[in-house]
Amino acid sequence: MIYRKIVAQMLIAFLLFSACQNTEHAPKSANDNEFEHGAVVTAHPLASDVGVQILKDGGNAIDAAIAVQFALAVVYPNAGNIGGGGFMVYRGEDGAVDALDYREKAPAKSDKDMYLDSAGNAITELSLDGQLAAGVPGTVAGMVAAHKKYGSLEWKTLVAPAIKLAKEGFAITKMQADEFNNHQEKFAKLNPQGAAIIRQEVWKEGDVFKQEELANTLELVAEKGRDGFYKGATADYIVEEMSRGNGIMTKSDLANYQAVWRKPVEGEYRNHRIISMPPPSSGGAALIALLQSVEPFPLQRWGFQSDSAVRVIVEAERRVYADRATHMGDPDFHRVPLKELMDDQRNKARMKAIDFNKATPSNDVSASVFEGYESEETTHYCIVDKAGNAVSMTTTLNGSYGAGVWVKGAGFLLNNEMDDFSVKPGVPNLYGLVGGKANAIAPNKRMLSSMTPTIVEKDNKLFMVVGTPGGSTIITSVFQTITNVIDYGMDAQKSVSASRFHHQWLPDQIDVEDNAINANTRNSLKLSGYEIEKRGNIGRVENIIVLPNGKLQTGADPRGDDVARGY
Ligand code: DON
Repeated sequence: MIYRKIVAQMLIAFLLFSACQNTEHAPKSANDNEFEHGAVVTAHPLASDVGVQILKDGGNAIDAAIAVQFALAVVYPNAGNIGGGGFMVYRGEDGAVDALDYREKAPAKSDKDMYLDSAGNAITELSLDGQLAAGVPGTVAGMVAAHKKYGSLEWKTLVAPAIKLAKEGFAITKMQADEFNNHQEKFAKLNPQGAAIIRQEVWKEGDVFKQEELANTLELVAEKGRDGFYKGATADYIVEEMSRGNGIMTKSDLANYQAVWRKPVEGEYRNHRIISMPPPSSGGAALIALLQSVEPFPLQRWGFQSDSAVRVIVEAERRVYADRATHMGDPDFHRVPLKELMDDQRNKARMKAIDFNKATPSNDVSASVFEGYESEETTHYCIVDKAGNAVSMTTTLNGSYGAGVWVKGAGFLLNNEMDDFSVKPGVPNLYGLVGGKANAIAPNKRMLSSMTPTIVEKDNKLFMVVGTPGGSTIITSVFQTITNVIDYGMDAQKSVSASRFHHQWLPDQIDVEDNAINANTRNSLKLSGYEIEKRGNIGRVENIIVLPNGKLQTGADPRGDDVARGY
């Protein structure tokens, strides 16, 4: 347990270090971030270029989103993926909304206690590193499903830019060179045969990174769609890779994987309509519960990160994350009380008890009991096309470079998403999140997520597209970005550059970025019993706001290499 905690803390520290090293958070120039027709904001300049080119070539937002997903799998291998999964929230120009779940699933041979030793203790590294940590990947199935329902360009056209980048290679950024160098040891230990980034020389900014095996796999996907991944050579390579370690994924796990269209969750916040991801992500419902909880309070009058605002937000977060731990899991396996969790009156009523002079200890807060109810690496991108179709998409391998297993022959990394399950009640995962029965491991079940791809409407029109990576901090980062815009009047860039803080019930502490919450407020919070923990960057948020004149104003998080492009 202690070991697990230490490993988790080391991993979080490393993830944060490698994800984002710019602590200044200086906003990028405000002049070049508004576009007339279409905009794409992603974690990598080359992926943003691919998305905009698809839009210029007449593709819609879904076409661009598919091309970006595949491009990120090449140019952003720490999180972009075909060996992972994710979620998409979509709003068509006609206002119709949809949500796509291409989350990984537990292999059929999974078992509730598969990461426990004979004494019943959790063995952390098993759900984080190596073949047994991988869930059945959902990305290719998800992209095929998205294309079938909404795509307009030919499938092959959308995979082609990624194939080219993999084949010809691309110049890595400074941040990537550092990450590649930092991960040599991990890959040498876990996966020396397959890891494309292993080499003797030190990586430098501008070095060209080619991935021939990945190009071949993408060619199969371009030609055969889902069969290019879930059957034939790629499936063979994945199953072979399982046998090089302790993996349990089989060909039938792969052949049976299906992405699922779900109904987005919706809520209101100060006359805006919030549209977000339903379970198996906790993100949308938790975001809506947070917004409902703080709505009665005058955040704007109090001011950004003012003493009272921080107290109210932290107390709301504590309560919402307590509910998350108990009630949320894969809706196909566990009835999630969504209506109750997003009950506006309930969420507002329980904020009445908060004391502005004293922190509520998390031990005194437990999940609500509903009567009659039975019981750090990800990446986000936002796209709006010229017709006004919008895509908010978060995709992940879970930890940086996932399970550290680069499938030999197929050239891509497997996720370590199994760690998002509650491996044992009360044992924290990589992000310190705890859970219980609702999120226990079961064969073919999807692990609970915090990913919160979100779209906001104002006056029935598209207003904002937003999301971020960051594990458990995803929900609170999206929440803060929304309040930054709606309550504090920030523009898209400022709203993502602004400093952030986070509370998640357990551990009972406020995590703060270096420049978040000024010294006076921190002192006053400490005097009231709040524990404050400094940490590295929180999240890498992307944002597009539709201005009253119809222009698309973009915000790309300065904590990473993130870039907004448009035309
Ligand atoms: O689904 C989830 O909530 C996590 N697997 C997301 C991981 C993540 O955001 C890592 N990024 N820094």
